[in-house]
Amino acid sequence: MGLSLDLGTPVNTALMLYILYSVQRIIFPPISKPTSIPTEFKAGYSWMPKSHPPTVLFKTFTPKTLEPFNGKDGGRILLAINGIVFDVTAGRNFYGPNGMYGNFAGRDASRGMAKQSFDLEMLTPVDQPLDKLEDLKPDEIENMKGWIEHFSNKYIICGKLVENDAI
Ligand code: HEM
Repeated sequence: MGLSLDLGTPVNTALMLYILYSVQRIIFPPISKPTSIPTEFKAGYSWMPKSHPPTVLFKTFTPKTLEPFNGKDGGRILLAINGIVFDVTAGRNFYGPNGMYGNFAGRDASRGMAKQSFDLEMLTPVDQPLDKLEDLKPDEIENMKGWIEHFSNKYIICGKLVENDAI
């Protein structure tokens, strides 16, 4: 018998056909387009989602354009600390209309964060110039920076806050 290939026997013919088929599958893998969007990872990402996932655009806000993002409509919640605008929508329990810190929503929260107070007088009316924070003591500035650190680790920075007449 030896190693010589005897295609005459039906078993060998079948094996040879199977090998040819397998090699063909390896060299020319079938490209199958799924008819519906897969919901789990199977062999690879050969598909595109129907639409692009939501993105966050870095924008310039003024006190007036920031104010609508107060979550009262169930929408996005933004707040600013020292000119940095954070998207705190994920913290709706804190900043939503019934949240303990809801008064910071849509507002410049710098002074309140610095002084560790959510008293309403911490907030600058939205039609007024930005709070310059010049009277804050060094430890209050430090406290505010600590909050910026906390927020940077937890939330997405989505813009900066400038004066109402700056844009
Ligand atoms: C009665 C006093 C207070 C209590 C019992 C309290 C309680 C809490 C609790 C339990 C958390 C959640 C911590 C976490 O899960 O990460 C928190 C977070 C926070 N607190 Fe207070 N707090 C008080 C006063 C204040 C005051 C006066 C401020 C004013 C600035 C403040 C600002 C914040 C902020 C900004 C957060 C972070 C929320 C976030 O991660 O988005 N808290 N507080």
